[in-house]
Amino acid sequence: MRKKIIAANWKMNLTHTEAESYFATFLSEIGQVVNDLEIVIIPAFTAIPALISASEKMPILRIGAQNMHWEKSGAFTGEVSAAMLRALYVKYVIVGHSERRTLFGETDEIVNRKVAAALEAGLRPIFCVGETLQERDGGQVEEVLRRQLSKGLAGVAQKDLLEIVVAYEPCWAIGTGRSATPAEAQQSHSFIRTVLSELFGSPAAERIRIQYGGSVKPENAEDLMRQKDIDGALVGGASLDPRSFAGIIWRTEAALA
Ligand code: PGA
Repeated sequence: MRKKIIAANWKMNLTHTEAESYFATFLSEIGQVVNDLEIVIIPAFTAIPALISASEKMPILRIGAQNMHWEKSGAFTGEVSAAMLRALYVKYVIVGHSERRTLFGETDEIVNRKVAAALEAGLRPIFCVGETLQERDGGQVEEVLRRQLSKGLAGVAQKDLLEIVVAYEPCWAIGTGRSATPAEAQQSHSFIRTVLSELFGSPAAERIRIQYGGSVKPENAEDLMRQKDIDGALVGGASLDPRSFAGIIWRTEAALA
């Protein structure tokens, strides 16, 4: 049984004070502790300390980071290392988000170095893959996913695989309001699991969690979360409002019922 993981990717939004008031509303919306889910909030670096202390009130909540550098330390102005995040008790880090790949030039090789550095430091990578609209229209979805998975996870030891969460985020669904249909998402998730099984063996592939991301909102969350190979969501826009993020969590609970 794979525990569902619902993560809020705030991107470059919310100051640390805004994060604190968000959290207070979120906590009252969520009410009872949700037992069968893992919830992760992934703010900008500056809001991490405030959220770490606030999240002590909610043990099933984890805090993540949106990025990190693969080197341990050194002359890399503007960068943050995995050890710096671990020192703040950060548990997860997003690696290979499509915005990092397209806007900041991150290649599969860079993503692979970050995955390795995160694992070495004891951080759990949320490793993102997904095709562009052009690639989808060109019938290249499987080829792109296979390449991103095999290059991004190259050298990962089998024992470390379950530290990783894969996030399938078709680029055309991110921030567009146009989510993949549950059937489209399920098809890609099942393909991702097949590739992971070729790379790491079927027992590990059956246990690894694969999140869907791309215009997830309370209205579509339940149908998506009912799909056999969808083990959670990585939510951007709809996670910026604590009520709508809480709504996605409740819809996920409903899908589990
Ligand atoms: P979205 O973003 O929910 O706004 O589409 C998802 C993501 O980029 O992780």
